[in-house]
This record gives sequence, C-alpha cells and structure tokens, in this order.
Amino acid sequence: MSFDVNNIRKQFPILQTKIGKYPLIYFDNGATSQKPQSVIDCINTYYETENANIHRGVHHLSQVSTENYEEARKTIQAYINAKKDYEVIFTQGTTDGINLVASSFGKLLNAGDEILISQMEHHSNIVPWQMLAEERGLVLKYIPMNEAGELILDQLGELLTEKTKLVSVTHISNALGTINPIAEIIEAAHKVGAKVLIDGAQSLQHMQIDVQQLDCDFLVFSGHKVFGPTGVGVLYGKEELLNEMPPYRGGGDMIKTVTLEKTTYNGLPHKFEAGTPNIIGGIAFGKAIEWLAEQDLKGIKQHEDELLAYATEKLNEIEGMRIYGTAAEKGSTISFLIEGTHPYDVGTLLNQQGVAVRTGHHCTQPIMDFYKIPGTIRASFSFYNTKEEIDQFIIALKKAVTMLS
Ligand code: ALA
Repeated sequence: MSFDVNNIRKQFPILQTKIGKYPLIYFDNGATSQKPQSVIDCINTYYETENANIHRGVHHLSQVSTENYEEARKTIQAYINAKKDYEVIFTQGTTDGINLVASSFGKLLNAGDEILISQMEHHSNIVPWQMLAEERGLVLKYIPMNEAGELILDQLGELLTEKTKLVSVTHISNALGTINPIAEIIEAAHKVGAKVLIDGAQSLQHMQIDVQQLDCDFLVFSGHKVFGPTGVGVLYGKEELLNEMPPYRGGGDMIKTVTLEKTTYNGLPHKFEAGTPNIIGGIAFGKAIEWLAEQDLKGIKQHEDELLAYATEKLNEIEGMRIYGTAAEKGSTISFLIEGTHPYDVGTLLNQQGVAVRTGHHCTQPIMDFYKIPGTIRASFSFYNTKEEIDQFIIALKKAVTMLS
C-alpha cells in the first residue's frame, strides 16, 4: 500500500473543521493526535453494545468486554514485539507509567544509588525521579545537551557508574524534536548493569519500536498521542523485572487472596492494574494501534521527513527567525521564536487564522533555561498534515508578525 495523504485525511473527521472562516490546520500533534473514524466508531460501539466491567462477570457482556480488552493488550504486544502479552501493563498514560516505575522499581533502590536522566526531559521524566531521590537518598544525574539540542554522549562514560541503577531518557524530545540515539544509550547503560526506561510519548506515533531488538527494560507511551483516546497508556517492562517489582496501587484485581491480616498479589499484568481500568480506553487504543499497523509506515516516515524539511526551509526565510533544536536527527517537530514577538501573541494570532500550535515551555523548563528563553512556538506535524497547510501556516505567521511589529 502506498502513502496517500488525501486518503488518510478522509479518515480523520475533525480535519474538516473550520475555525471561524478558516479551515483547521492542526499542528499541535505533540500535545495530542486526532482520531481516525475507526477509533471513534469503536468507542461508540462499545458504549452502545458492549459496556460492562471486565475480569469480574460471568455474564455475556462482561466476557465480551474482557475479551476485547485482552485482545487490545495482544495487539499492542505484537506491535512493539514484546515477548509476552502480560509485559504490557495498561496505565493512565506516559506520566502514570513513569510514576509507576519510580514508585515500584524505586522501592528496590537504596541510599547512594544513582539515576541518570537528561537535560531535555519532559517534567514527567524529571519530577518523579526528584521526588524519589529525595525520599530514598538517591543521586540524580543529568546527561547534558549542546546548543543544537543533542545529548552530549561523550560524557556518558563518566556519568554511568556501578551505582547507576536506572537510566530514563526520552526517545524524541517533545520540545525540540531531537531523536536521541537510544540504542547506544541502552548498550552503554547495560554495560554497568543499569536498567533503561525509554519515554516513547513522542515516538510511537512516528515510528515502530521493537522492544526486544532495542533491549530496553521499560518503555512508556500514551494512547492519545498515538491516535487513541486520552486517559490510557502502556508501560512495557521485561517480565523478570516486573515480577521483582512490588505492586504500585492496592485494590481490586491486583490481589490473589485478601484476609484482614494479609494480602497475596495477583500475577502480571494484573498486579499493576488495581481497580476498574479505563476499559474503553484500552480497547480503543488497541484499535488505534491496529489501524496504525495497517498504514504504510515507511511512507509515513518519508512524508513526515518531507514536512519537517519543507517547514524548516520556509520558516528560515522569515526575518528574525530562530529555530530551537537543530539536531541532525529530528522528528517532525519545530520549536521557534521570532525576534521582537512574544510566543503567546503569535500563537493567539495564528489561532485567529485557524492554525493550532502550542506556545510556552512545553513542560520542559530546563530546556528553556538552557536557551535562556521563557518558551517557544511549537509546530508539531503528523502524517495527515500537508505541504499546502505549511504554506498557509507561513502566510498566517507572516501576517501575525506584521501585526505585532
Ligand atoms: N507532553 C505534551 C506536549 O508536549 C502535552 O505537548
């Protein structure tokens, strides 16, 4: 199947929306993706004909719901090539997945142990580790980045010690678009016996990840950024590690037996899935992954690379333009500022012309501190975007700059 952007666009009803008299140009895919019709239909069908709680009922609807939920887990397992379906833990999203690992894996760590993250992490991959470090007396270290927004890996040898227990890094920076060399980082970390968590929040929607080939110990990602619903995500973990880790939250479904004196815990994945989960979230996320797996993934990559190159070229023609994040390897995200304008004002004027971008620090204040700026304007593209939309965006941007100067 070859990549046909017009056919793809037809499957996303929201792309027909108008903002006032302007057609919607949705360039905020880093914040959340739009949903194809098949995912929307899946959600409607579930509530119209299948809604029931899972793992609990002998009745028909509960069985259907349970089967669909577990089938979604298998779909995701196959897509990321996990060895076992129970290595796929449903969470509330990437943030929840990282907090799960920090809270549970963190209990296996002792004072003086080290955790290594990077300077370009999203707050969700900084704050849980700072909280854990404070609680357990751990040492938190950072891989620094250079002016282009690339990690300085020359320093990795010194930063990794026999005390490093976990390295937690983003695959693709949400603020800069940098694609980090995670295979290299994983290999180096494993040499000192450290485990590695990959934050895949910004990558699964752009490229397929094979967890066995990559040999990461944990991978976290969110449903809503990968064409599924909000409120659901996945923590992949290697079986032996997940078995070693204590439960995260206590409640129903995660237990084997409970007496007033003592509880024994359920096996994987249930040990980490206390309470009624986001059932339709999981099922619809499975549907989104099923849909994505049917697309021309090579064509998607090529199209997104073309969008990035085209937008970079056009933006650089604007006077006073500075692009933040000029790494050699980049995903389809561009952060920029235009001299003499405030990002919030530019974002507001773009919105008045139908263009949706994100402005601000993008939950990456350490990156903004590095560049000594309060924030940026961020355009993040998905494969349903087009060069024609970029042309319109550039016209709208020039108009905004004229109005502001
Ligand atoms: N982390 C999301 C973003 O980068 C919300 O916009």
